[in-house]
Amino acid sequence: MKTVSICFVCLGNICRSPTAEGVMRRLVVEAKLAEHILIDSAGTGDWHIGQPPDERAQHAAGQRGYELAALRGRQIAAVDFERFDLLIAMDDKNVVALRQVCAPDQRDKIRLLMEFVPEADARWGGAREVVDPYFGGAEGFEQVLDQCEAACRGLIAALRPHLQA
Ligand code: 4NP
Repeated sequence: MKTVSICFVCLGNICRSPTAEGVMRRLVVEAKLAEHILIDSAGTGDWHIGQPPDERAQHAAGQRGYELAALRGRQIAAVDFERFDLLIAMDDKNVVALRQVCAPDQRDKIRLLMEFVPEADARWGGAREVVDPYFGGAEGFEQVLDQCEAACRGLIAALRPHLQA
């Protein structure tokens, strides 16, 4: 079986992308694919380098059994486009920032997380983005978790054929 490496990317690397990382880590274990899907996260900004995830993100994730406390913020770098097969962004601004970091022939490694939500899942009306919850209330963090759970399930389903190819 092959291996795929994934880096989830948001702005700060303290809310959305660590949540996606924590969700994906558990789902790949449950799918018995932990040795074949390698997972990391990063931010396009530099404000939160070295910091643990936002307390609200940790709390919301913890209530669903995801442990984010050991994660630390880091900033995306050009070398990440060598290390990872897919860089999965939370919103369109992250995509723009990622395109500025990589070489033109690496742009096809960039995806939006919400692309992986099955079309039949109408909960977010076909939304392209996982909205930044940083300046909002607790419900924003719940929506981030709901979106990450749905999209990461879809992502694993999308990756399975590549792992077996
Ligand atoms: P994230 O959320 O991109 O999901 O980690 C944010 C965290 C911090 C800031 C913005 C978004 N900030 O402006 O510091």
